[in-house]
Amino acid sequence: MKIGIFDSGLGGLVIARAIVKKLPKYDYIYLGDTKNLPYGQKSPVQIYRFTLKAVDFLFKQKCQIIIIACNTASALALRKIQQQYLPTHYPNRRVLGVIIPTLESIWQPPIDIRSPIRTNRRSKVGVIGTTATIKSHIYKKELTKINGQARIIELVAPDLVPLIEQNSLQKARKTVKLYLRPFKKRGIEALILGCTHYPILKKTFGQAMGRKVTVISQDEIMPGKLVNYLKRHKELASKLSKNSKKEFWVTSRNSKFDKVAKRMFGRKLDLKLVKI
Ligand code: DGL
Repeated sequence: MKIGIFDSGLGGLVIARAIVKKLPKYDYIYLGDTKNLPYGQKSPVQIYRFTLKAVDFLFKQKCQIIIIACNTASALALRKIQQQYLPTHYPNRRVLGVIIPTLESIWQPPIDIRSPIRTNRRSKVGVIGTTATIKSHIYKKELTKINGQARIIELVAPDLVPLIEQNSLQKARKTVKLYLRPFKKRGIEALILGCTHYPILKKTFGQAMGRKVTVISQDEIMPGKLVNYLKRHKELASKLSKNSKKEFWVTSRNSKFDKVAKRMFGRKLDLKLVKI
């Protein structure tokens, strides 16, 4: 059985790359729903429908665990899939998201991992994400369950994903600076990059916010979280095959994808097309 990694596009390859680096022996399938990107501009019903199809595809490809690397899908589809779809269709498989692990890494880190910021129960942290993620207020809602005293300040960035996915990184960098200019005055200690596409511009985010603000990037969080999860769930870990095989699927292609995928994953990929 394999580990599935799902994103609305190619941005999740940055997370996949970090996970594969940390756990190279497992077999992986990556799926990017490039046909329906950007999820961030879709309705909750559409996001749920697309995510469910993707999850179903990955389970049919023999995934034991699926990581929904997409924040938008984690915000609007994960819970319903876990509570309604899994128990009736795949009771022995698991689907994990990125939002709770990100918040836990700050305010509830495991004993062996240090929080990326010097935590203070009252700390004020920013999150930048797609329209759908920010409108769902998922980071604020989940934070109240972990730490009722801390604050999340939200910022929506609707234009970034299409620019990154089209490899227009110069324009994307300028857009980051424009978005963050007013946000700098909010006095946050850290900024969560709440979208799989943003870690590729981590440096730009860091420069735009200045040295006092820690940039929290999910490619630095998810590998450790998965290691920890597999340690705690040996019954799942024991089912995973270890042949170091990797497959990469997308639901539509264009001429820029090979370049973008190479930038995200760090090497040329054989992207296969699938209709789901
Ligand atoms: N991958 C999505 C996320 O992490 C953003 C891209 C999109 O809008 O589809 O939020």
